Amino acid sequence: MPGNTHKSRTSNKVMTLFVCFLAALAGLLFGLDIGVIAGALPFIAKDFNVTSHQQEWIVSSMMFGAAIGAIGSGWMSSRLGRKKSLMAGAILFVIGSLWSAMAPNPELLIAARVVLGLAVGVASYTAPLYLSEIAPEKIRGSMISLYQLMITIGILGAYLSDTAFSYTGNWRWMLGVITIPAILLLIGVFFLPNSPRWLAAKGHFRDAQRVLDRLRDTSEQAKRELDEIRESLKIKQTGWSLFRENSNFRRAVFLGVLLQVMQQFTGMNVIMYYAPKIFEIAGFSNTTEQMWGTVIVGLINVLATFIAIGLVDRWGRKPTLTLGFLVMAVGMGILGTMLHIGIESPGAQYFAVAMLLMFIIGFAMSAGPLIWVLCSEIQPLKGRDFGITVSTTTNWIANMIVGATFLTMLNSLGNANTFWVYAGLNILFIIFTVMLIPETKNVSLEHIERNLMSGKKLRDIGTKE
Ligand code: BGC
Repeated sequence: MPGNTHKSRTSNKVMTLFVCFLAALAGLLFGLDIGVIAGALPFIAKDFNVTSHQQEWIVSSMMFGAAIGAIGSGWMSSRLGRKKSLMAGAILFVIGSLWSAMAPNPELLIAARVVLGLAVGVASYTAPLYLSEIAPEKIRGSMISLYQLMITIGILGAYLSDTAFSYTGNWRWMLGVITIPAILLLIGVFFLPNSPRWLAAKGHFRDAQRVLDRLRDTSEQAKRELDEIRESLKIKQTGWSLFRENSNFRRAVFLGVLLQVMQQFTGMNVIMYYAPKIFEIAGFSNTTEQMWGTVIVGLINVLATFIAIGLVDRWGRKPTLTLGFLVMAVGMGILGTMLHIGIESPGAQYFAVAMLLMFIIGFAMSAGPLIWVLCSEIQPLKGRDFGITVSTTTNWIANMIVGATFLTMLNSLGNANTFWVYAGLNILFIIFTVMLIPETKNVSLEHIERNLMSGKKLRDIGTKE
């Protein structure tokens, strides 16, 4: 019987890991495209001689594309399947990377970044969905955190490559080099199997069985899983009509939107996109210092994500999030105060950097991965595709607003006030977390769904009794 011998068991494990790694590569590209603009922007600004406002658009055009991409991929991944969606995403990654590297003027650079954004939007919706459908149950939870880890590694990779190219100031290479992992993803996606759950949803049970046979340890396991999929397919996805008819589902969609707004308005991406600029404000006038400072930001972001992976199932979501928002509020608040007083001495400069890093730790240990985890846990099965499309799209719209307003805020409110605004928002999010966010640690998704649909308060939908 296939899958029962020791040899094929091992090769099935290797196959599963390979498949998961390839899908997570989409997370890496998501991170590379988020990270790359920070180091490239100062050189682009000099080369094209653009205003602050145009710079904001160069940054946030990608998020605009991503919001559209996320909306479109809900439809695309259910019609064409997860694999073809990922393929479309990979092709857009290749086109967008090449085009942005060759853009002759700011307008076409903005257009190229919209295309890149479409790719990121498709990846940010499809890759976690595909991972959750293909990964064996035992490692499904850690896959979402792995995906976030890949995003942070992508951001760090982009900062490192930006730094390497910064010595010649060649921003076209910074943007263009991302074509290489994009091509790798495109080649890799060809080897991915279709998602068994999607195949089954389309009525192709035999093909679904074949994929599961290749990925699971034994054929009994594969069969059991297919039976479960068959069972769950009895519940039809009725996103929009459920949203219109059922106020309990509307609450879950609202919660997903709120969670993503909270993640973005922490101000994390202000730092991701404008890190060198912030180092300049903190008194590091030399480009090399700014670039290396940015690399350290990226590295801390990767490392602190491991804190979240360790805490999420032990401490739970709510205390970890509360602590994270508190750490972020303190980091941003002190940074604002220092900018208010004036950062003169080297000691003060390094202290400001320490506060910036403290903020990054606060985000990476909490809102970074946990918001994605919670968003995938709170939607009832019937409306999961719809609910996650809405929350993922919100992530990108909020991301765009943050990216498109930072330089304007600095110019109109001043440096200190801008950072204080973000500190204030993080304090507000502590209150929201306590009042509205459920604790979902150690509770089954079915249980959460039952609580939600029976009308329990949002913050109680994770309670056991
Ligand atoms: C967020 C991104 C952010 C990244 C930073 C992700 O969870 O959605 O907006 O840039 O984390 O690590």
